[in-house]
Amino acid sequence: MIQVKNLTKRYKEVEAVKGISFTVDQGTVFGLLGENGAGKTTTLRMIATMIKPTSGTALIDGKDLIKEPDNIRGKIGILFGGDTGLYDRLTARENIEYFGLLNGMNKSDISKRIDMLSKKLEMEEYIDRRVGKFSKGMKQKVSIARSIVHNPQIMLLDEPTTGLDVTSVRIVHEFILDQKKEGKTILFSSHSMSEVEKLCDIVGIINKGKLVEVSTLDELKHKFKGNNLEDIFVELVGEKSEY
Ligand SMILES: Nc1ncnc2c1ncn2[C@@H]1O[C@H](COP(=O)(O)OP(=O)(O)O)[C@@H](O)[C@H]1O
Ligand SMILES: [Mg+2]
Repeated sequence: MIQVKNLTKRYKEVEAVKGISFTVDQGTVFGLLGENGAGKTTTLRMIATMIKPTSGTALIDGKDLIKEPDNIRGKIGILFGGDTGLYDRLTARENIEYFGLLNGMNKSDISKRIDMLSKKLEMEEYIDRRVGKFSKGMKQKVSIARSIVHNPQIMLLDEPTTGLDVTSVRIVHEFILDQKKEGKTILFSSHSMSEVEKLCDIVGIINKGKLVEVSTLDELKHKFKGNNLEDIFVELVGEKSEY
């Protein structure tokens, strides 16, 4: 479970996140929907203990982000969009193994886990090849395996499908639904309405650093008497979305 409490982040004159609070229950998918610059990445980075909040905090399975960040890192899996950050000269297995070691796993557990994940994600054919020449979809699978090698209960995914081709998007969507089935707690950000509609139990709409709405999709549609998430988004955010 993730409980975000009044998180704020200020970069000099820019207040990127302005006191955000929400809860993600265990076994559910929470989608943070917002345009570019809304504050999604900043919010997720704070929860991932990658940057320090200016004020506020979050509890990750009851552990306080500010007081015990070291107890949180092992509980979360992180998949951020854009550059995968894989090492081209290492094989897929070595990339995943390296991450497992960083997360304090021993080699034998890592090896069992990689065998399982490579089967599940259908990477067996290329698990021992260097990732340098992999397609985007292949790389995405390696990143996914890497993010869950330590079997985290909580997943943080920042625009995990942005910039990916159709096949890779499908891989990520299936992965998210699969993790949900396993009872994982998932927080992901997106600027795609259709993605949020497809994957989320709860949607939080973020605009200029503030959460302007948190509801289930049905509640949202009922409340705004619309059946189209895009119309609701425009109504809440107050300007036409480019997406
Ligand atoms: N390291 C930083 N230094 C200064 N401003 C930043 C930094 N990171 C993000 N910002 C600003 O904070 C705001 C929110 O950014 P971000 O969280 O990346 O939004 P999103 O992920 O929704 O596109 C933007 O105005 C952005 O320019
Ligand atoms: Mg972002």
